[in-house]
Formats: sequence, structure tokens, C-alpha cells
Amino acid sequence: MHTTEATGSKQSAAPTSCKALAKWVSDVAAMTEPAAVHWCDGSSEEYERICAELVESGTFTPLSPERRPGSFLARSDPSDVARVEDRTFICSEREDEAGPTNNWRDPAEMRATLTELFTGSMAGRTMYVVPFSMGPIGSDKSHLGVQLTDSPYVAASMRIMTRMGSQALAEIERRDAFVPCLHSVGAPLADGQEDVSWPCDADNKWIVHFPASREIWSYGSGYGGNALLGKKCFALRIASVMAREEGWLAEHMLILKLTSPEGKVKYVTGAFPSACGKTNLAMLVPTLPGWKVETIGDDIAWMKFGEDGRLYAINPEAGFFGVAPGTNERTNPNAMKTLRDQTIFTNCALTDDGDVWWEGMTEQPPAHLIDWHGNDWTPGSDVPAAHPNARFTVSAAQNPAAAPEWQDPRGVPIDAILFGGRREGVVPLVREAFDWEHGVFLGSIMSSETTAAAAGAVGKLRHDPFAMLPFCGYHMADYFAHWLEIGGATDAAKLPRIYYVNWFRKDAEGRFLWPGYGENSRVLEWICRRCDDEADARETPIGLVPTVEALNTEGLSIDREQLEQLLAVDPQAWSKELPAIHQHFARFGARLPQQLRDQLARLEQRLKEA
Ligand code: GTP
Ligand code: SPV
Ligand code: MN
Repeated sequence: MHTTEATGSKQSAAPTSCKALAKWVSDVAAMTEPAAVHWCDGSSEEYERICAELVESGTFTPLSPERRPGSFLARSDPSDVARVEDRTFICSEREDEAGPTNNWRDPAEMRATLTELFTGSMAGRTMYVVPFSMGPIGSDKSHLGVQLTDSPYVAASMRIMTRMGSQALAEIERRDAFVPCLHSVGAPLADGQEDVSWPCDADNKWIVHFPASREIWSYGSGYGGNALLGKKCFALRIASVMAREEGWLAEHMLILKLTSPEGKVKYVTGAFPSACGKTNLAMLVPTLPGWKVETIGDDIAWMKFGEDGRLYAINPEAGFFGVAPGTNERTNPNAMKTLRDQTIFTNCALTDDGDVWWEGMTEQPPAHLIDWHGNDWTPGSDVPAAHPNARFTVSAAQNPAAAPEWQDPRGVPIDAILFGGRREGVVPLVREAFDWEHGVFLGSIMSSETTAAAAGAVGKLRHDPFAMLPFCGYHMADYFAHWLEIGGATDAAKLPRIYYVNWFRKDAEGRFLWPGYGENSRVLEWICRRCDDEADARETPIGLVPTVEALNTEGLSIDREQLEQLLAVDPQAWSKELPAIHQHFARFGARLPQQLRDQLARLEQRLKEA
């Protein structure tokens, strides 16, 4: 624990031998004018002290020690509940390096704008210096960062989400390298001014990345991916730029370990857009007897080639920042066990006995709640008790389904990659790509209905290639080209096979056709058997789809007609998708790899012949 008053001559030497870090911290303190600077050591005493301060300031409501030991509820400002994609910027040197899917600003202009915003922005607050490692400390696959933040909620969350503190600092000193991540909630306090429970700048948010200098500046928000800068800002937007330069992949993917009844192990990653099922799949309890799923990661995968020419994945994170609504004993029992204690809940509802509740946790809501706004709530109310993007922040080590190798610094060799999205029509339950290039094409045309994970409309269909639309730090067409290049960098047989899944197809009455959750193990089984050339598929214009017999439906109450609907490929419906795919590709102009243009032409041809 090392705290100093930051003013004038009282400022003592920084407790680090990394000169670049000491200078950056002192420069930022001079600009932002915090009342104190605190270097985080990552100890449990420090975590407890920060939590106690958050209780004191009203940000945290402690939950009942009987019901939810060591846990807290935070209610955010209603203006600060999700990622803000329209306020997220990629400030590459030239606009065409950011590409048509990112907001771009000239880096020099942006620096000037931000410098003005950050000047004095931490007044009256403590600036926390948060050294962290993305990936196991000491792994050659890990990368280091330091977040400076005036939010104790963020400092506490970073201790859960990353390997944070002295060990990370020692590694930064050893490597003399770190990604600087500057964060302010943008709510300076005048002398004597009383604080609010969730400080932020309601209508002035800036989530800014400088890929050339690998820097992150975030202003105005204290929520999730806007503020926990190791996650989307570093591990995806900045890391995707590093990965492209260095020949690896930084992806918005879960990582799971699948063991068959015969003891065969497969490692699978899956890219689904925000709030489309990664955490749930990563923690799945199979309904198929004898199968086992264990978690490596639930949101981000860094994949690098091993000496054997296979892709190895690590989870750069150390915790889960997961969607609460919909999580219950049936859908995700492992998450419910993970959340029993030592958890930070944000924007969930509070029960009268000091526990949390959210829509879908139990069939019947409690008779009375305090909703995420802090108001009384009773069943039948026309507003939800928990915000649809309410989240839990919890250490991955608490997951009873954690794979023993989840922190293996070497990572795990990947057998299959899944893509998927939320589509109520057209897209079948699962299909296999013909080959890597076709798989990259499937990733590039991913589309999904928008969710509450980002501010804006929900349920709007949009293209979200590789689930990376909001997270790619450079030109999306170059990102496609990078994926194609990765496929050429090793023997085809060593590459993971690629699949496209959709748990969200609906019938004419708007009901999900597929039960999902634990039953998704049936799809995983088919994939696993396919990887070993043991399962049947029929060739369709859009890929290889299981025959009705090939999907294991033993013990599943689903009629054949429903199953046929789930696996149906309707060439006419697919033909209607083509104009939107053409439009989507047209955004990238000449930069779109020719292989993908050819893939689209071949899809059109196959649909015509079908
Ligand atoms: P981010 O953390 O935002 O990246 O989300 P995620 O991809 O991890 O999504 P998550 O697993 O948290 O699921 C989001 C929502 O989708 C939750 O409300 C789940 O209950 C729901 N969901 C997940 N899996 C399934 C499924 O198989 N079927 C159905 N119908 N819903 C699902
Ligand atoms: C997502 O939106 O994909 C998330 C939540 O995982 S956040 O960390 O807010 O980005
Ligand atoms: Mn995510």
C-alpha cells in the first residue's frame, strides 16, 4: 500500500524502477491534479480497504454476509450502463487505417481534445496506479499494462478481472514495457463538494485508442468495457493491432475444454457478439451423459502458433464480467456457484434480505425489491428490476468448472472455432465450413441482433464480423486478410475446423426452437465427432449441416419437425440475405480480400443451383 498526497513538494518518489512509468504517472498527476496518488499492490487488504471506502461513499451496498458473503451491489448512473460504441475512437495516423467500421479522429486533434478534458479532471479524488498483466504473469503470451484511474470501483474491479499489483509491476520493470491506459470518470470535485454514488460525465464520454503508440485514454464513464481498460480496449482493440503485426490473433472468444465419454479432449473457441452466449457456453453443464465441459475463458482469446504449427489459446483475463439477467440454476448452474460470494454486482436489484435478484434468476420475482435505480419495485411493474446489461464481476478461480489448465502459460491447442449470432430466422443450428477460407468468409458475414451490452437499439440486425465490429483496432478488411494469412501460415490439417452456430432460431409463434444452454452440448458433440471424421453431414450451399440422425437427440423432447426446422437451409431465404452481404462487403471497397469476393460469388452460384 503506497499512497501519497499529490500536491506540490509533498509528492514523494514513485515506488518503481521503471522510469517511463514513474514519469508517465507524474505527468498525468500534474495534468489531472488528483488529491492523492495510490500505487496498487493487489493485496487482499488493499482490496478490502477500497471496498470499505466504496461502502463509505455510497457506491457499494454491502450484501448480506449470510446470503452473499464478501459481495457488494453497485448502482450506476442511468446514463452509464453499457459500452458506448458511437463514443469509441480509433485514432490511427491515417483515417483509412481505422477503416469504415470505426470512428476515427486525427490523433493530434484528439490528444488536444483529451488533454483539455483531463486537465484537472481528477481534482478531489485519488488516482489509483493499477499495474496489471493480461495473461498469466511471466507467460511469453502475456502483455502488460498500467491503468491510471480516479475510480475506486474500477481499481477494485481490475483486481478481479486481471492479475493486478506488485507481481505485475515487477514484470513491467523487468520488461520495461507496458500499455498506458488512462481513465477518468470526468467528475472533478471542488473543495468541499459532496460526491455522488456513481460519478461520471453523463453526456461527454470518450473511449479513445492510439494504435500507433499503443495508448488508451478513456473519459466520462465508469462502466464495464468503457472503464476496465484491460478488457476490450487493451485485450481486443490494441491487442488486435499487435496481433496483426506479430502474426497472432486477439479475438472476442470464449475458450472451453470438451471431454468425451471416451476421454478424448478437444479445445474449442467461440466468437459470439456481446450478450449472445459466450459465458453460458464456456460454463456449460452438458445434458449428454458422460460429456464434460470446463472453462478456460469466457470473453477473450489470444491465439498464437506453437512450435508444432497449431494455434494455442490463452485467456488474458482473470475474472468474468458477465451478463446477470437470464442466469439461473437451470441455464448456468456453474455461474450461480461462482457467484455465491466475493462478487461485485452492478445494476442488479436488491432483495429485502440483502441479496441480489435479476430477471430470469427465479421464475417468480420476490414480492418486493429495490430496483437498479434504487426505487421500490413490485412484480408486475412495467420496468425491469435489474438493468438488461446488469453484470457480475467475479474471479475466474471461483468457477467450479474451471479447467485445471485455465492458467497454463502455454495455452491450449485449439481444435475448433465457432462463430455465431442471434438470428431468429434463416440461420441453421450449426454448420461446418468447407475449409479455412470458407470459414473466414462465414466469420466475415456474421450477423446478429443487437443487445443491451451496447448503448442504442436492441434487436436490430447488423453485420458483426467475427463478433469484432466494436473491437477491431484497425481496418476490418485488413483484419479479414490477416485471418486468411493465418490460414496460410501452417498445414491445413493443423488448423482448427470452423463452425457457425445459432441457438436463437424461432418458430412462427416467436418461441425459441432450440432449448439452448446445457442442450448445446449436443451440438458440441457433433462438432467433436466431426473433428474426428465420425459424424455425418449433408452438403448444403452454406456449408455442411448435420443430418437429423447425426445430431444426438436422446433424452431430448423435441419433435422431428422442429428439428428439421432448426437444421433447414432455405435457398430462397438465403438468397434474400445476399443484397445485405453485398452492401456489407461494399463498405470495404477495394481493400476487401479477393478470396472473400470469390467466396460470395460461389455462395450465390450454389444457391442458384440449389
Ligand atoms: P458478453 O459478456 O456481453 O460478451 O456476452 P456473452 O456472449 O458472454 O453472453 P452470455 O453468455 O452472458 O449470454 C447473454 C444472454 O443470452 C443471457 O441472457 C443468456 O441467458 C442468453 N443465452 C445464452 N446462451 C443461450 C442459449 O443457448 N439459448 C438462449 N435462448 N439464450 C441464451
Ligand atoms: C461485451 O460487451 O462484449 C462485454 C461487456 O463483454 S463489456 O466489458 O462492457 O464490453
Ligand atoms: Mn464480450
